[in-house]
Amino acid sequence: MGNTVADSKTVSYKELGFVNTREMFQDAMKNGYAVPAYNFNNMEQLQAIITACVGSRSPVILQVSKGARDYANSTLLRWMGRGAIEMMKEMGKPVPVALHLDHGDTFELCKSCIDSGFSSVMIDASSKPFAENVALTKKVVEYAHQRDVTVEGELGVLAGIEDEVSAEKSHYTDPKDVEAFVKQTGADSLAISIGTSHGAYKFKLKPGQSVPPLRFDILKEIEKRIPGFPIVLHGSSSVPPAYIEMINKYGGKMEGTAGIPEEQLRQAAKSAVCKINIDSDGRLVMTAAVRKVFQEKPGEFDPRKYLGPAREELIKMYMDKNEKVLGSAGRC
Ligand code: G3H
Ligand code: 13P
Ligand code: ZN
Repeated sequence: MGNTVADSKTVSYKELGFVNTREMFQDAMKNGYAVPAYNFNNMEQLQAIITACVGSRSPVILQVSKGARDYANSTLLRWMGRGAIEMMKEMGKPVPVALHLDHGDTFELCKSCIDSGFSSVMIDASSKPFAENVALTKKVVEYAHQRDVTVEGELGVLAGIEDEVSAEKSHYTDPKDVEAFVKQTGADSLAISIGTSHGAYKFKLKPGQSVPPLRFDILKEIEKRIPGFPIVLHGSSSVPPAYIEMINKYGGKMEGTAGIPEEQLRQAAKSAVCKINIDSDGRLVMTAAVRKVFQEKPGEFDPRKYLGPAREELIKMYMDKNEKVLGSAGRC
C-alpha cells in the first residue's frame, strides 16, 4: 500500500478530537498509574483498543509505527483514528485519546505526522551519539511545540535478544545523561532502557532460569535526577504463556518466548513511568484466536468469523491490562 497519496492538507489534531499527552501524564504521575500505549495496524485492533478503554474508563495512546503507516497507508490510518473518536462519542462517555507516532526516526516523518493530525510523536534517535540525539530531538520539539504537539525522546538502547539472561549493561540508559537531555531538548517525556526489549523473545533463558528483574535501581536514579518528569517504557509486553500455549496447541510453533512479568510493570506504573508500550501481546492474542478458528473450523472462509473472535479476545486482554497491570482503568 505504502504512502503513495501524500497528505496534502495540514490539519491539527485538535480538529480531529485527539489530545496531546501532557495532561494524561500529569494525572498518571499524580495518581501512580501508566497510560496504555497500544499499537494498531488494522480495524479490529483499533476497535478492540477503543472498546476496551471506553469500557474500563481508561485514557489511551493510539500508537502508529512507521511499519503501520507503510502497511495500512498513513491517510487511511489517520481517518481511522478520527473514526474511532466518532465511534467513541456514539458509545457514550468518550475517553481522552492521543494519536502518537511510535519510533519516528527522522524529522520529516515526525513533521508529516504532526501536519496530518498526530497529537504526539516519538523521535527515536537513541542509537545516535548523544549530541546528535539531542540536536534531532530538539529540532522535532521546536516544530511540535509550535503546534502544541508533545514529543517523546529516548536515551539508551533497548536490547535485542541477548546471549545471556540479562541485557548488556551498555544498552541501559545512563542516569548521568538524563538531566542534560531533558533540559537541552525540551522533550515532554523520556523513553528509557532498564531491561525491556521489543518482541516476544525478550530473554534467552536456560532451563530453570527465570526472567531477570527490571533495573529499578536505574529507574530510581533517573527519577532522582529529573523528579516529576514522565518516563516511558517500551517493549513491555508480558508474552502471556496462556496465549503461547494456545498458539502452539492450534498448529503454531513459538518456542523460547519470554516477556516482562506483570507485577514488575505494575510496580513501574506506580513510579514516574507514565506510558507503557504494548504491541506484541496484541499480536499474540490475535494469532492465537485466529489459529483456534482455523483448526476447529477448517471450512471457515469469512474473515469476520475469525477476526471477530480475535477482536473479542483482544478486548478482554486490553481491559485486563488497564485494570490489573497499568492501573489506568477508572481514571476518566
Ligand atoms: O516498537 C515497535 C512496535 O512493536 C511496532 O512494530 O514496526 O513492526 O510496526 P512495527
Ligand atoms: P512489545 O514488543 O513488548 O509489545 O513493545 C512494543 C513497543 O515498545 C512499541 O513501541
Ligand atoms: Zn517501542
